[in-house]
Amino acid sequence: MAKRNIAITGGAGFIGSHVVRLFVNKYPEYNIINLDKLTYAGNLANLKDIEDKPNYKFVKMDICDFEAFYKLMQEEHINGIIHLAAESHVDRSIKDPFTFARTNVMGTLSLLQAAKLYWESLPEKYEGKRFYHISTDEVYGALAMNHPEGIKPPFTTTASSTEHHLAYGDDFFYEETKYNPHSPYSASKASSDHFVHAYHDTYGMPTIITNCSNNYGPYQFPEKLIPLFINNIRHRKPLPVYGKGENVRDWLFVEDHARAIDVIFHEGKVAETYNIGGFNEWKNIDIIKVVIKTVDRLLDRKEGEDLALITYVPDRLGHDVRYAIDSTKLQKELQWEPSLQFEEGIEKTVRWYLENQEWMDNITSGEYEKYYKEMYEDKDIPN
Ligand code: NAD
Ligand code: TYD
Repeated sequence: MAKRNIAITGGAGFIGSHVVRLFVNKYPEYNIINLDKLTYAGNLANLKDIEDKPNYKFVKMDICDFEAFYKLMQEEHINGIIHLAAESHVDRSIKDPFTFARTNVMGTLSLLQAAKLYWESLPEKYEGKRFYHISTDEVYGALAMNHPEGIKPPFTTTASSTEHHLAYGDDFFYEETKYNPHSPYSASKASSDHFVHAYHDTYGMPTIITNCSNNYGPYQFPEKLIPLFINNIRHRKPLPVYGKGENVRDWLFVEDHARAIDVIFHEGKVAETYNIGGFNEWKNIDIIKVVIKTVDRLLDRKEGEDLALITYVPDRLGHDVRYAIDSTKLQKELQWEPSLQFEEGIEKTVRWYLENQEWMDNITSGEYEKYYKEMYEDKDIPN
């Protein structure tokens, strides 16, 4: 097989930085090109430990810039694309859907078209090529909560993280589940997924799509639930819980997602979709309590003293009730499974944020303060 020259888009973001790190460290013989616009969510500090490696290069680029990406493909002989660049936060998409359509839909289309033109111009065409698109379980919509107290799941799985698992409904998202996105974010991701399918079905491009559940772990921008709450607890700021805190998400440790991406990029079947999840459903309020207790313990505060910071605020518009992924296909076909129990993952995560306060402080000054004020101003949170 030809030498791998892989463009990873969005590599300076949360999940992207874990994928870049894994590929750079594990495959010294590959060329890994991190292509990122460095929006508010992109941060090269996420990759300090590998930035000087000889098989790594960073290129600042907007994925909507067709010409620039086409030129990069030619210059670097790109034969693999792992596409993570996106606008990724549901609350921002509710305030500003256009940016999501631009980056997530037009940006993905631009990459597909550049890849098509370049790869079709080569003698071997699509041979040995891969366009791997990273998507989300949110494209499937929302599942019902038939068991508000949770039940032991009816399926069998080998995943070690399932030991404490409860299911809050009878149904799950399967690879065959019909797309039914609700938020502007999930609608833009669904649209990009359709374009990826279309490039396979129409032009024969070797594409793969994966739809993953909520990730957590180091380097996540503190607009998302877990890092935002860890940072607020540290500063003893109110914790804005949307609605009753009863919405359910399936959570996966980010390094397990990166491991899945590695396996699927190398061994996944072209034109297939794989669901990636942790068989690990949690109600928001239960996660929040675990996070509070962990922060309190690690900061030598009285255990649970920060539970008083919980502040119920008006619900997110169109708030999806429950996400739950069935990732049996990936487990059976490619022998991937989550490596961490959730409690272990949360402990690791909280510890990381507390030990990397400088990283957090650097991104929570200036623009972030403005964002926080605007995003939460109508939520009537006491200071
Ligand atoms: P993130 O917001 O942390 O990072 C996104 C990255 O993309 C940033 O580095 C940003 O600078 C870059 N970017 C944004 N617009 C760009 C543009 N126009 N051109 C080039 N770069 C641009 O996102 P994340 O949480 O790491 O998510 C990565 C991918 O995984 C996304 O496609 C997201 O939809 C998907 N995903 C995320 C989760 C999750 O829980 N975070 C779950 C499933 C799927
Ligand atoms: P989030 O991390 O934004 O991920 P997603 O919306 O993609 O699932 O939110 C996770 C859950 O936490 C979701 O149900 C919304 C809720 N949430 C809050 O209750 N308060 C907050 O301040 C945030 C950011 C999220």
